[in-house]
Amino acid sequence: MKKSLALLLVLALSISVFAGCGKKAVETAGGGDLPTIGVTIYKYDDNFMSFVRRAIEKNAEGSATLVLNDSQNDQAKQNEQVDLMISKGVSVLAINLVDPQAAATIISKAKDANLPLVFFNKEPSATDMASYDKCWYVGTTSAESGIIQGELIVEAWKANPEWDKNGDGILQYVLLKGEPGHPDAEARTTFAVSTVTDAGIKVEELELQTGMWDTVKAKELMDTWLSKHGDAIEFVIANNDGMALGAVSSLQAEGYFTNDKFMPVVGVDAIPDVLTKIEEGTMIGTVLNDAANQGKATVDLSRNVGQGKDPLEGTSWILDETKAVRVPYVAVTMENIEMAKKSYE
Ligand code: BGC
Ligand code: CA
Repeated sequence: MKKSLALLLVLALSISVFAGCGKKAVETAGGGDLPTIGVTIYKYDDNFMSFVRRAIEKNAEGSATLVLNDSQNDQAKQNEQVDLMISKGVSVLAINLVDPQAAATIISKAKDANLPLVFFNKEPSATDMASYDKCWYVGTTSAESGIIQGELIVEAWKANPEWDKNGDGILQYVLLKGEPGHPDAEARTTFAVSTVTDAGIKVEELELQTGMWDTVKAKELMDTWLSKHGDAIEFVIANNDGMALGAVSSLQAEGYFTNDKFMPVVGVDAIPDVLTKIEEGTMIGTVLNDAANQGKATVDLSRNVGQGKDPLEGTSWILDETKAVRVPYVAVTMENIEMAKKSYE
């Protein structure tokens, strides 16, 4: 035990000495003249982001050196990580913000160092994006996920009249919201519901609270809501799959999905655990948030601009007028589950 601790210490020391050598050390870590991409993930402990991170690592293999940082959901920490990466001489920054409002701070750091910058997953405001010509965004069109989720709800609700348990013709729902202020959370919340009402279905919101994208928090909320409303709840709408999983485990503990007790639950992301739930029949659907392609586009653009090339050189991505690559969302149900599985392989 003691021996391995000592070994760990020696290892940790040699790594920090290595990291202390500046530009050269970072670059040689990947071999030769590869560009060094300084990456931050807002927190490693996020289900979906762990898949994006994996895709980034896979796509950088042999073509770029990565410096990866876990910002631990702390913007101050992320700012320091960015300072450190700049001082070590990375070729480009690829930033998953903690706080979308902090884009301006990161942009000014990149500007001062004359470094290109690729944001991903948490979209900065259009004003921030326009304030620096060497910054790009890789993500999605947030509203699209809400619309697709709403369409899933409409189709399923119409096909299953017995889900209107109290027979009042109104869909009583609870909604698990992601992080407030996150463009995805705001747009999904708005558009999932408006798509349902636009289809002529009357709705009643029984509860709406943030579960911060988190399974454990969502389970706690769902526990409370179930004891308060019980069977008056007719639909669970979750802004992401992580929270949908929390809702499902709360429902299972209350005896749902056995005998005739059922509750429709929808999410967004299509992470493997949720695909399993769809196959088991404990979730009706989700929306593919394509982690693999978002990770790939982040590396493709970063690698290019880190070498002073056009961001799209040698790729098939398209930039919109806000300098963003937007990977499409796709509805996922039992019918096309195999496609979703491939995307998360
Ligand atoms: C995903 C969430 C994730 C969030 C992190 C969203 O696009 O759907 O699962 O927690 O990004 O920023
Ligand atoms: Ca009803």
